[in-house]
Amino acid sequence: FLAMLPSNAAQAEDGYDLWLRHAPLEGEALDALTVRPLAVVSDQAGNATVDIALAELRAGLSNMTGRAVATAAEPGATLIALDCDHPQIADGGAFSLNGSSNGLTVYAFEPLGCLYGAYALLRDLAQGTPLGEIGYSDAPAMPLRMLNHWDNPDGHVERGYAGRSIFDWWHLPERLDQRMIDYARANASIGINGVVVNNVNARAFMLEPRYIVKLARLADAWRPYGIRVYLSARFSAPRDIGGLPTADPLDPAVRAWWKAKADEIYAAIPDFGGFLVKANSEGQPGPQDYGRTHADGANMMAEALGDRGTVIWRAFVYSEFDDTDRHAQAYAEFVPLDGQFAPNVIVQVKNGAIDFQPREPFHPMFGAMPNTRLMLEAQITKEYLGFASHLAFLAPMWEEVLEADTGHGATVAEVVAPVGMAGVANTGSDRNWSGSDFDQANWYAFGRLAWDPSLSSETIAREWAAQTFSRAPAFLDSVVPMMLGSREAVVDYMTPLGLAHLMDTGHHYGPAPWVCDLERPEWNPCYYHRADAHGIGFDRTERGTHALAQYAPSVAAQWADPATTDPIWLLWFHRVSWDHPMPSGRSLWAELVHRYDSGVAAVDAMAATWADLAPYVDAQRHRAVTENLAIQANEARWWRDASLAYWQSVNGRELPAGTPSPA
Ligand code: GCU
Repeated sequence: FLAMLPSNAAQAEDGYDLWLRHAPLEGEALDALTVRPLAVVSDQAGNATVDIALAELRAGLSNMTGRAVATAAEPGATLIALDCDHPQIADGGAFSLNGSSNGLTVYAFEPLGCLYGAYALLRDLAQGTPLGEIGYSDAPAMPLRMLNHWDNPDGHVERGYAGRSIFDWWHLPERLDQRMIDYARANASIGINGVVVNNVNARAFMLEPRYIVKLARLADAWRPYGIRVYLSARFSAPRDIGGLPTADPLDPAVRAWWKAKADEIYAAIPDFGGFLVKANSEGQPGPQDYGRTHADGANMMAEALGDRGTVIWRAFVYSEFDDTDRHAQAYAEFVPLDGQFAPNVIVQVKNGAIDFQPREPFHPMFGAMPNTRLMLEAQITKEYLGFASHLAFLAPMWEEVLEADTGHGATVAEVVAPVGMAGVANTGSDRNWSGSDFDQANWYAFGRLAWDPSLSSETIAREWAAQTFSRAPAFLDSVVPMMLGSREAVVDYMTPLGLAHLMDTGHHYGPAPWVCDLERPEWNPCYYHRADAHGIGFDRTERGTHALAQYAPSVAAQWADPATTDPIWLLWFHRVSWDHPMPSGRSLWAELVHRYDSGVAAVDAMAATWADLAPYVDAQRHRAVTENLAIQANEARWWRDASLAYWQSVNGRELPAGTPSPA
């Protein structure tokens, strides 16, 4: 029987351990931990969170060293001690790591700080840093670091590409899947502290008592990991499940219903985080159905929660009854409400004004609502970037947004830092959680950036790759640049030079710039590219839709003139002729062709790089990535060739001389 097992079964890797593999160390890093017996201790043992920190350290260290780790201090041992009520450290999860040749102490003000410190220590050790060289303090930059699951209670995940939902509502509350603990570990290891468990397109019945008991079981399991649960709440719930004739936020019976609902949830989950609400957006109900404003709706729910929780109100709104530029609608609806939202309301704003495209300029609402708590919403799941089969490391995209100067005296990161960041999760029931090994990096990167938005994409990629695959410098020096260029490759072969929303309708996977017959104009790709025989692009200047004027004057000025606009934003803000001269010296048409080709070439280069890295990666995961890169190489060509053929059908032009012929 044993002979039937594959010979490499012991080394098989299915990606389940994510970045928490804690692979065996070698060299100086190993020596520092093995010269003497190793012990991990804390005076606060017995606290659930401290116990998790201790268990994580003991398990991680024993994996990395191949030795047992003692649970009590013994003479002559290298001691790793957790001091979790140190008065000089801040609350909120801060910690300090102080290593020496004798061991290391993690200092924190509270157990959660010790847990974060333990994960940070494991991260450093797993990258090969010797124990005695570890010494620094760290604290989260943002109070709220959340995942938003677009998981439906029936197990289907909207825009999810990694299998079914990880939440097993059928068997809760009695049965808690081990995945729920492993998920909490992964999140806590990168500082995630809030989870919305259900889709923004919410079903009201998730608020019923039968689901509250299930949610309470999850809340109990995640509490020691510092994670609070939140629910997406359907605005019409008082009508849908409450038996009321209306959901008007100013109706006293509606207000009483939400208050009673909040009380009921808090009786079961004392630290319930609050509600996430998608209202009057894409057909969802909301206060405008009753002639009320977003502030009326949000404040009513905020009053029901009181100081126990937060209403997170989404700004992703655009309407079929509004024929102005979709880009301008959220700003137009929300900015006049600045200052009207209750203190426990947060307005959650997508990174850009359209919808999670491969590249969008930052949303003009950032910086424009100084009296409202704004939070950034990013999408970890790759709805418009090739799902889980295309390799695109998203940290550079988020870094681009976070670093953007809003022109209102702050970067986007500075605007949202007092509040937080939410990421639309990419997890599912696949063994590797995210549908592909490299998509795990996006989950990791989101958490790390929410913890510290000043971290560079390069640092994050290096940390992740070292923990996930191999800490060999030759591997990292090759895989990190590959990751850093991967998102730009997707931009180039899908939507170069500021083009957007050219994905096929509904599923958003392949190219369909030719689609122009959908009932709602703003769902048509042709709405966004506006190509004809003369030119291409969306004029958002004062000659066009004026959406550019929603940016602060200094920012609007950078993008006002096609001659001086950075080519990456050109067709986002301008409509130009096919002959428009580009900074490269090429015409716009030649430049477009060049960008599509660059995108395809970059994918081929990624495949070649990855092939060379086979010696550093276990066969199972190496092959899985190789096969995805083969899909991506085919589909990059599909995008380029279909897009160019369509543009040629519109502009009647030949491909510039020297263009490689289609596959
Ligand atoms: C996108 C996505 C929808 C989602 C929506 C939202 O439009 O395609 O599935 O519901 O964003 O963020 O609300």
